[in-house]
Amino acid sequence: MVSSTSVILSLLLIVLLPSSSSASDSLQYRFFHCVNLTSESSIPFSTSFFTPNNASFSNILQSTAQNLRFLIPSRPKPELIFVPTVESHIQAAVVCARQLGILLRIRSGGHDYEGLSYTSETELPFMILDLSKLRSINVSIEDNSAWVQTGATIGEVYYQIALRSKTHGFPGGMCTSVGIGGLITGGAYGPMMRKYGLGADNALDARIVDVNGRILTRVSMGEDMFWAIRGGGGGSFGVLLAWKLQLVEVPEKVTVFTLSRTLEQGATELLQRWQQVADTLVEDLFIRVLVKKVNATSQAGKQTIQTAYQALYLGKADSLLKVMKKSFPELGLTKEDCIEMSWIESVIYIARYARNVPPEFLLQGRSFFNKFSFKAKSDFVKEPIPAYALEGIWKRLLEQDSPLVVWTPYGGMMNKISESEIPFPHRNGTKFMIQWLAEWQNEGTKGSIAHHIDWLRELYNFMTPYVSKFPRAAYANYRDLDLGVNNLTGKTSFTDASNWGKKYFQNNFNRLVLVKTKVDPDNFFRHEQSIPLFTTEI
Ligand SMILES: Cc1cc2nc3c(=O)[nH]c(=O)nc-3n(C[C@H](O)[C@H](O)[C@H](O)COP(=O)(O)OP(=O)(O)OC[C@H]3O[C@@H](n4cnc5c(N)ncnc54)[C@H](O)[C@@H]3O)c2cc1C
Ligand SMILES: *[C@@H]1O[C@H](CO)[C@@H](O)[C@H](O)[C@H]1NC(C)=O
Ligand SMILES: *[C@@H]1O[C@H](CO)[C@@H](O)[C@H](O)[C@H]1NC(C)=O
Ligand SMILES: *[C@@H]1O[C@H](CO)[C@@H](O)[C@H](O)[C@H]1NC(C)=O
Ligand SMILES: *[C@@H]1O[C@H](CO)[C@@H](O)[C@H](O)[C@H]1NC(C)=O
Ligand SMILES: *[C@@H]1O[C@H](CO)[C@@H](O)[C@H](O)[C@H]1NC(C)=O
Ligand SMILES: *[C@@H]1O[C@H](CO)[C@@H](O)[C@H](O)[C@H]1NC(C)=O
Repeated sequence: MVSSTSVILSLLLIVLLPSSSSASDSLQYRFFHCVNLTSESSIPFSTSFFTPNNASFSNILQSTAQNLRFLIPSRPKPELIFVPTVESHIQAAVVCARQLGILLRIRSGGHDYEGLSYTSETELPFMILDLSKLRSINVSIEDNSAWVQTGATIGEVYYQIALRSKTHGFPGGMCTSVGIGGLITGGAYGPMMRKYGLGADNALDARIVDVNGRILTRVSMGEDMFWAIRGGGGGSFGVLLAWKLQLVEVPEKVTVFTLSRTLEQGATELLQRWQQVADTLVEDLFIRVLVKKVNATSQAGKQTIQTAYQALYLGKADSLLKVMKKSFPELGLTKEDCIEMSWIESVIYIARYARNVPPEFLLQGRSFFNKFSFKAKSDFVKEPIPAYALEGIWKRLLEQDSPLVVWTPYGGMMNKISESEIPFPHRNGTKFMIQWLAEWQNEGTKGSIAHHIDWLRELYNFMTPYVSKFPRAAYANYRDLDLGVNNLTGKTSFTDASNWGKKYFQNNFNRLVLVKTKVDPDNFFRHEQSIPLFTTEI
């Protein structure tokens, strides 16, 4: 009978597997042994160790993987997943992966846009070092700071701060399920950036495991390396264990609003006005614009573009109304549109979660929304985009199933920090950032995925004349492999890597390459867009 045959087969497999030494079995076995010998901790780690034979392997693989596009069966899968519970196991994992020549993928929150924390573009065997069990957060209101392990999400950090004080906050991301590990390492912008800068601008110290398995802090790693990890992107310099973050002051009551305009209601003209004022508003005010396709109310079956102005104001409604009357009356904000709330409630609001979602939800460390597949690109804008180009954008959005474009205002504090202060260079002179996004509900078929991605690329090409140039800048945390990739099986020349490196980091790229060459001379910490070594080869 079929069922008993398969039972016997499974039993046979279980008996045979340990002795059958296919390359990958032995790799897993050797890694396990190496960690056993190397780890200085007596804490057992066998429950941290998952191979494709463990029943929970695919659950662990998918757990925090945010982009369904990279979970399709044809994508390369890791040989093993290691989910350490103590820092010393991470040290051992680095030493052993290096010794055994296994490509390491480091995962904190799993939100990498190109899935680089859990997949690989190459056929090289790789493993995932999953930090999700290391998520402790120690907030000190007296010291105005917090130590946060990298497996925690930014939402948990917000929650722990708010639990201890009504007047402290942190200027990080808007999506609350993003991991601290990848977020701070690539910049971290959110609705308080115009007042306080980026999350990375507010990082005070860090603990990192270097390529030799040593734990370094700001003092022992030195200022060059500490500079590089604050915005130079994840996965290039070591495994970040924890960040020390500086808290910032928030008022007991903040004010939020969302106002929408469709094309029929003058969306194009209003967005032109926004482009002129958004980066010049008082620093307490942040108004971003979310653009999507909606059904028109005027006519059944007709679709239109909706622009939603979503705002956070660090103050009360009365004072916001005065600011708006003076600086941006065209939006027509009224008292009824304004909602006063605590800062932690505004975190939920800005994340666009349902209004009845309590702050405690943040402790779950996941998004309120279902996961989907997506491909995205980013741009920085220095001159207002003319109306005829906006029309070109609308036309293209109407052709796509589920497009989303997000316009994020700069200015304020962002103008006051020098371009070379940390690796994130997009500062004075940037009016706003745009994120272009195509999303689809399921994993998609090869054809449908290609269709969405081609659409996005065409829109991006169309925008070339209207956005930053030489280089056309991009946000490192909105990773886009279209900009270029390293050759992981050979060597990548500095010139090739500059193609994408300068887009993310401009002139800071050179310093990042020098730091990388010094702290990881064998290029152990590498992925498709890690900072490459300085080589004289062409
Ligand atoms: C839905 C969504 C919303 C977002 N919203 C915002 C936002 O509001 N603001 C913003 O600035 N960004 C935002 N981002 C982008 C986000 O900042 C980046 O994707 C970030 O890199 C994710 O960090 P992570 O730890 O979740 O991701 P991961 O996928 O775990 O890691 C991202 C990269 O960093 C590396 N890495 C991860 N952990 C470590 C570590 N401990 N040490 C060294 N390297 C590490 C990984 O190998 C990978 O290359 C958003 C992303 C998504 C998907
Ligand atoms: C290593 O293996 C030995 C023998 O199986 C075991 O006693 C020991 O606890 C292991 N060490 C760790 C750190 O797991
Ligand atoms: C996975 O399987 C290995 C080998 O059978 C075992 O040692 C390990 O404990 C398993 N992992 C978990 C998390 O159960
Ligand atoms: C928080 O404090 C506890 C207890 O002192 C400590 O064990 C933990 O490592 C700390 N976490 C961080 C991220 O510093
Ligand atoms: C838009 O209209 C179509 C039919 O014309 C309908 O199927 C769809 O559900 C509507 N979408 C929304 C978001 O209301
Ligand atoms: C920002 O750029 C403008 C225009 O180039 C310049 O006048 C101003 O001084 C700069 N501000 C800072 C803080 O560097
Ligand atoms: C990467 O380098 C290897 C070895 O030099 C070479 O064979 C291969 O073609 C390169 N791959 C790409 C995509 O350039």
